[in-house]
Amino acid sequence: MSLLSVVDKSEKKVLLITGALLVLFIFSILIARSRYNDAPECLPYDKAYENPKVTQLDDKTYQVYAVAQMWQFQPSEIYVPVGSEVDFYVTSKDVVHGFNIPQKNVNLMAVYGNINKVTVKFDKPGVYPITCHEYCGVGHQNMQAQVIVNDPAAAPRASVQ
Ligand code: CUA
Repeated sequence: MSLLSVVDKSEKKVLLITGALLVLFIFSILIARSRYNDAPECLPYDKAYENPKVTQLDDKTYQVYAVAQMWQFQPSEIYVPVGSEVDFYVTSKDVVHGFNIPQKNVNLMAVYGNINKVTVKFDKPGVYPITCHEYCGVGHQNMQAQVIVNDPAAAPRASVQ
């Protein structure tokens, strides 16, 4: 007598549905992994990352050391040309902060003593806000920065008189 023959009919149905869902979930995770292979990574801590800076590696590649602290991001404005690929190295100088670029699906925590790295490609010109989305104290709602993506090929705007 097999084990399944003693299982009630309705339980078999539940087992079957559960098994199908499990396969579906695993399959979706595999698809998501292959499609979004720019997942963030954790790097070994180094004090150097606590000094905010923007470094240009070549004409389309930038490195940003983004430092969160109560209640600001540094650098607060990051200028890159359109088509740039930017590596963000994110850390905090005090409590846990968030590092969120909603338009680019970036959602990281900025944690003291930790470096989180994510690579973002900016294909379209515009202003991309960075916000703190982890509650970090009374100034939390003021923690904002922005990535300004310029199109050098576009004609400069005439000044408004
Ligand atoms: Cu920093 Cu909220």
